[in-house]
Amino acid sequence: MAFLSFPLSMIFIILTLHYGSSSDPIYLRKTHEWKKLILTHHWPVTVCKMDQVQCDNLPDYWTLHGLWPDKSQMCNKSWPFDYSEIKDIMTEMNKWWPDVLHPNRTQLWKHEWQKHGTCAASLEALNSQHKYFSKAIDMYKMTDLNSALQKSGIVPSTKYYQMKDITNALVDIYGVVPKIQCLLPQQGEDAQTLGQIEFCFTKEFQIRNCTDKSDALHFYEYQTNKELQVCDQELNTLYPPIKCLEDSP
Ligand SMILES: *[C@@H]1O[C@H](CO)[C@@H](O)[C@H](O)[C@H]1NC(C)=O
Ligand SMILES: *[C@@H]1O[C@H](CO)[C@@H](O)[C@H](O)[C@H]1NC(C)=O
Ligand SMILES: *[C@@H]1O[C@H](CO)[C@@H](O)[C@H](O)[C@H]1NC(C)=O
Repeated sequence: MAFLSFPLSMIFIILTLHYGSSSDPIYLRKTHEWKKLILTHHWPVTVCKMDQVQCDNLPDYWTLHGLWPDKSQMCNKSWPFDYSEIKDIMTEMNKWWPDVLHPNRTQLWKHEWQKHGTCAASLEALNSQHKYFSKAIDMYKMTDLNSALQKSGIVPSTKYYQMKDITNALVDIYGVVPKIQCLLPQQGEDAQTLGQIEFCFTKEFQIRNCTDKSDALHFYEYQTNKELQVCDQELNTLYPPIKCLEDSP
């Protein structure tokens, strides 16, 4: 027994030192205390464009992508997505949080729950699947991005926008700085395509700036979809109408 326990405890100490090291990149610290919630909207036309798929019956409004704690992911692998817990909000889920690429399927919700919801659940207000998904929908409705853009005259169009007009309109309405992401100009294009708009909230669900000097840069890189980048303030910006997709072969 003594013969075995010495090497085993050494191994344990070595593993502890190795994995517990505070020099781990921040995105590897899965249990890292998170500070804000990111409510992410995406523009369905751009979602389909990124995946180069033909989508039918696209919503003509910004839909919910997710509600993400800023500094943790995959917090509880033993808490699987359970469709039956959100059956009663299915009408709202399908309308405001559809899986644009896989209509009538639940894989987006499953993914969002596993990756982000299990971390958000450290807040009492979000500690069940029903609470998480319904709170996200409430926040989405309160934020009402679709009317905000419309009221500012920012509507899908084949003419280009200046990025500063979009940013300024949102800052004026919300009083906080959102994070706006675009698809870089693709081959043959001379404009970036508006794709995703994120609003940040405190743990008390107060809207706040997304900008935060203390945010580690590589965490952002890790968390966001690789194909989307923070929009370039200098580039022309396309906010593509649904029609635009149908016209292309
Ligand atoms: C993970 O989720 C399961 C199922 O809800 C729960 O029983 C368990 O306490 C959770 N673990 C942690 C560390 O939160
Ligand atoms: C799938 O979704 C589309 C559009 O969202 C809807 O028109 C259709 O009825 C749905 N089909 C099924 C089998 O639920
Ligand atoms: C949010 O950002 C704006 C613009 O940078 C700044 O004027 C404002 O003071 C910030 N608000 C908070 C609460 O930090």
